[in-house]
Amino acid sequence: MRSFNHSSEILKLLNTREYKNLGLVPTMGSLHKGHIKLIEKCSSKCDETIVSIFVNPTQFNNKKDLANYPQSIKNDIQIIKKINPNTIIYTPMESDLYTSPPKAQIFDLDGIDKIIEGKFRKGHFQGVATVVKILFEKFSPDYAFFGEKDFQQILVIKKLIKKYDFEVKIRSVSTVREKNGLAMSSRNILLDKKTRYDAKIIYESLCIAKKMIKTNDIIKIKDFISNLFLVNKKFHLEYFCIAESNSLEEIVSFNPNIKIRAFICARFQRVRLIDNIALN
Ligand code: PAJ
Repeated sequence: MRSFNHSSEILKLLNTREYKNLGLVPTMGSLHKGHIKLIEKCSSKCDETIVSIFVNPTQFNNKKDLANYPQSIKNDIQIIKKINPNTIIYTPMESDLYTSPPKAQIFDLDGIDKIIEGKFRKGHFQGVATVVKILFEKFSPDYAFFGEKDFQQILVIKKLIKKYDFEVKIRSVSTVREKNGLAMSSRNILLDKKTRYDAKIIYESLCIAKKMIKTNDIIKIKDFISNLFLVNKKFHLEYFCIAESNSLEEIVSFNPNIKIRAFICARFQRVRLIDNIALN
């Protein structure tokens, strides 16, 4: 198994191989069990798997967040090797993806990039769409795998695919959690042990919302969650909302025929943690 800094080398290699389905798993590295599940799913669905590892600067609206983003390429390569030694690993240099300085393209994503997480991270989804579009254009994958932990990201990518007529099919993978329910994230290693344990409040809040949804009192649910964080104090609640799963429009009352999800972001100092679950 080799890792490649240049997409042209990968295309050359793929030319020598016979395959039916090419799968892509875009990542920013510092791999954990969530990423591992994506790579396993891709490897079982596709006869060729590309895993990209690239900390994409254009999706960081906060320079410190980019500078602090954990990186562990050597370890990541070992992890991938264990899952599937035939995986093609793409660890591009910035210049293989971007001209200098790297810039996000501007997409009209019908506003799906501007709500929920997009309100708090201006330009974030434009940067995500930019790098994913470049990857799709380079490799023309048949399938691309994304995690539900970043549910809004999946909708952004689906919108991108529709707008640009990409033929790639998206496969979403359910969220992998730590024992206490905290969604696995590369950022979790930035938390000390106690804080990482206490961060269970995030998933617990989502579970409470799920239990309370039958009361059909969205305001009461939101107040309950806000109060939880006011009492807890350790984590700052950036947002909690309940929205339609397809449009991400916030709902004001519960209709059991419409699929809805709860979305949350809580911050410990500079570490932002996001999560979401289906409520029905
Ligand atoms: P990254 O945060 O590294 O995540 C890569 C993929 O792993 C994403 O599809 C994400 O949703 C998925 N993932 C992360 N944590 C997960 C978990 N606990 N369970 C299941 N899947 C999980 O998301 C990005 O990178 C970037 O925005 C990227 C798409 C690579 C573009 O730069």
